[in-house]
Amino acid sequence: MCGIVGYVGKHSCAEILLGTLEKLEYRGYDSAGIAVFDHDNIEVRKAQGRLKNLRERMEKDGVPSGVAGIGHTRWATHGEPSDINSHPHNGGNVTIVHNGIIENYKEIKNFLIGKGRHFVSQTDTEVAAQLLDYYYNGDPIEAIVETMHNVRGSFALGIMFKDFPGTVFAVRKESPLIVGIGAEESFIASDVTAILNYTRDYYLLEPNEIAVLSPYGTNIYDLHYNKLSKPLMHADWDENAAEKQGYAHFMLKEIHEQPEAVKTTIRSRITDGLPDLEECGITLEMLRGFRNIHVVACGTAMHAGLVGKYIIEELARVPVNVDIASEFRYRDPLVTKDDLVIIISQSGETADSLAALRLSKELGAKTLAIVNAKGSSIAREADMLIYTLAGPEIAVASTKAYMVQISVMYLLAFSIALANGAINEDKCRELTAELVKMPERIEKAVQLEENSQYAASTLVNAESLLYIGRGLDYALSMEGSLKLKEISYIHSESYAAGELKHGTISLITEGMPAIAVVTQKRLVEKTVSNMKEMKARGAYVIAVCAEGISIESDAADYIISLDECPDILAPMTAVVPLQLIAYYTSVLKGNDVDKPRNLAKSVTVE
Ligand code: G6P
Repeated sequence: MCGIVGYVGKHSCAEILLGTLEKLEYRGYDSAGIAVFDHDNIEVRKAQGRLKNLRERMEKDGVPSGVAGIGHTRWATHGEPSDINSHPHNGGNVTIVHNGIIENYKEIKNFLIGKGRHFVSQTDTEVAAQLLDYYYNGDPIEAIVETMHNVRGSFALGIMFKDFPGTVFAVRKESPLIVGIGAEESFIASDVTAILNYTRDYYLLEPNEIAVLSPYGTNIYDLHYNKLSKPLMHADWDENAAEKQGYAHFMLKEIHEQPEAVKTTIRSRITDGLPDLEECGITLEMLRGFRNIHVVACGTAMHAGLVGKYIIEELARVPVNVDIASEFRYRDPLVTKDDLVIIISQSGETADSLAALRLSKELGAKTLAIVNAKGSSIAREADMLIYTLAGPEIAVASTKAYMVQISVMYLLAFSIALANGAINEDKCRELTAELVKMPERIEKAVQLEENSQYAASTLVNAESLLYIGRGLDYALSMEGSLKLKEISYIHSESYAAGELKHGTISLITEGMPAIAVVTQKRLVEKTVSNMKEMKARGAYVIAVCAEGISIESDAADYIISLDECPDILAPMTAVVPLQLIAYYTSVLKGNDVDKPRNLAKSVTVE
């Protein structure tokens, strides 16, 4: 939530800050701002709304010239989106940008008011700026250290002190921050994708480390002023991966990238036709004998966990609970040392998922993370780690990350089943061979774009709709419904098809659209009966089904038929039309597909 950047180098930095902020807009976009050292002055420009508003403001008020500065794109937490609440914020000698939350900001604010200080915004950020200034006595590091000892929460800060022109300071507690190292220039950023156009080399700033970027070099210190020597990381993500490359939106590009992303994710984890996670340091022995498995995640990643539940339980016969991380962490969960906790996260920084991971470790469980962002907190803290290799996902609505998350769930399910002796090697080989064929089948599903576009056109004026399915199809319909809500703003609910009659069917009126996912052959008849019940009450039913499943005209008005594949793998193809339907509905409604209202991609606050 919120993106922060900073630059120190030889080039005029206003445009560099705006360019890097553009790459971080997925973290929030209700206002933006920059602060640049113009000789001895700190020039601030900020504006409510998207970056283009900030550009317009700069055209009017002048582009600050200077070679060091900080920038911010906001997802409001304290105080509405407004010019005043936009970052950077000032506290006398100090100007800061901030990502995350200062939990004890009220207490600190009252303390500072008691010291005669005045506040102009409603933000916790201004409180941090004023506190830094309160502790500032000529030594920036001392002020930062003192501040870090007195603030609680999960946050990252980019800081400029008026008396230190040309120098940018940065510090973090939980919220991610990297320090990019280029040729005679350095950066700070919430995420490495922001700086790929300039450099791929970076340091990961750990909690309570302070970075000092000055014209004379970049140094990192701990809170005791010890200079640290840290390994320089190298991002192997292609810089084009963070560009639209001719697609109208990142979401569409990412939907199209799914076959390749799956190929890359599974390729190196299969040896001689069997899943092989040794490259991730995970042996079959390590996956054997867990009493329970808990999958904990948020949003789309949690939906990938639901698919995991069905397949692990079916193949490995181990009970799997799927939990929403924000519930799990406060529920005193029944997790023991005999359990495995799988945390799924694209960003690897989701606050609730990270807290769930830490809690699971405290409870003595073994933890395994499935993460896309390299070096992220969840990736570093879990006992076992499998990276999904999707490259950067920019659109806020997640598509390819979900696809690779479920690919890994398949590899894991096959491995756990084999490790526990629930399936034999032949069966495992057979399943793995089918998994290897999935990229091709996903590609064919992507080619059904026009069918999905047509389906979208039938529901664009709907006020509300239903998604139904049974078993794996139910798990999938939840993701379809979430996708539609996120970007089309049409209310939808997903329901277990058999549960409709117990209440929800009363919502159906003439013309109301419903999307039925029908890929599980043994459940077809049951789901088709439910579709007929909906249709008989006036619903317009769209069916997403597997080839070979015949659906009569009294059960569906429009059918999207996917390539044949084993039922257990069907979510990998069936999700594609659901993604595309959501995408085209959003496009037809004229919404900002990649940056839906009120959402952010990386949720680093509770
Ligand atoms: C946000 C995003 C979702 C994502 C969820 C979990 O809500 O908008 O797309 O699924 O966070 O994020 P994670 O990075 O942990 O997968």
